[in-house]
Amino acid sequence: MEKIRVGFLGLGYYVPDKVLTNADLTKMVDTSDEWITTRTGIKERRIADEAVATSDLAVKAAAEALRDAKLKPADIELLIVATITPDMQFPATSCIVQRGIGAANAVCFDISAACAGYVYAIAVAEQFIKTGMYRNALVIGAEKLTAITDWKDRNTCVLFGDGAGAAVLGRVSDGSGILAVQLGADGSQCDILKLPAGGSRMPASHATVDGRLHYIKMEGSELFKHAVKIMAGVGEEAAKKAGLNSPEEIDCVIPHQANIRILNAVAKRIGIKEEKIYLNIARYGNMSSASTAVAFAEAVKEKRIKKGDIVLLDAFGAGLVWGAVVIRW
Ligand code: ACO
Repeated sequence: MEKIRVGFLGLGYYVPDKVLTNADLTKMVDTSDEWITTRTGIKERRIADEAVATSDLAVKAAAEALRDAKLKPADIELLIVATITPDMQFPATSCIVQRGIGAANAVCFDISAACAGYVYAIAVAEQFIKTGMYRNALVIGAEKLTAITDWKDRNTCVLFGDGAGAAVLGRVSDGSGILAVQLGADGSQCDILKLPAGGSRMPASHATVDGRLHYIKMEGSELFKHAVKIMAGVGEEAAKKAGLNSPEEIDCVIPHQANIRILNAVAKRIGIKEEKIYLNIARYGNMSSASTAVAFAEAVKEKRIKKGDIVLLDAFGAGLVWGAVVIRW
């Protein structure tokens, strides 16, 4: 039987127009442009308006990806949204996006894998297409992280932003497509990055609101240590699985954009030149599942990725969860 190869038929992204700079943040918390820039690499981030929800960002990114793929919404058979900031607990944000774009024939569900969500969603979509169950999939990483950001906590509020990236996946037969996928998880570390309240463990109450427990809580330096080791490890494993002989064969790395220092350390560990790592963290900060999704679409649009290039998507986030995908473009 002929092996089905899954590839990318179209990409798109959307970020809100409103910019919040480091200078703006200095008026909100005790911080400085110098601290944020040197410790994280972030200069500014995009902020969605109050009335805008994650699905609104996702719909815009999805529309661009569909145009790029030259497909109609009704052609889509599977729609996955990766997000940790769903519009609401239920229904799934993917169902809201389905209504928004008119993808009436799609099966819809969400994936909660934090910053690795887009990579996890690609892995799931690839499996459905490979088995022949669906012909194509619309995969979206979308977040309104500013809705769960504590603007009084300088440890976290300088890091996050809003945005969405989307990809249409389908069968390919021109030698391009996904060469290897590697995923992982370590639930023993589930407490170092979380949003404590609003779930069944700690339902919303006056006490949870007063305790600011509906915002991101993060042990930053602890995460940092795991991030470097895990992102480098999963990237190497995926490259090996894809049959690459050396990391030098990778033309472009699209990493989750959590911290420039993490990414430089990962590059060093894997043995990849820093200039091969696509960066947009300075402009957007950390957009969780949307980071990798937006960076991928942007890098292709900017022609940083050319036909035949080997691309490595590499992401890590709360859970802990991680994943990497090797693609021939
Ligand atoms: N401005 C000024 N000072 C600050 C700020 C700020 N915005 N934030 C923290 N500080 C201070 C701290 O209070 C601390 O001061 P102290 O020494 O007096 O206590 C000092 O700076 C150093 O704090 P650290 O936490 O050690 O700083 P670090 O160098 O680790 O950088 C950071 C913090 C940027 C958060 C880093 O740890 C990081 O990037 N961690 C990884 C984040 C990550 O990978 N997240 C995973 C994905 S996100 C997701 O899944 C949603």
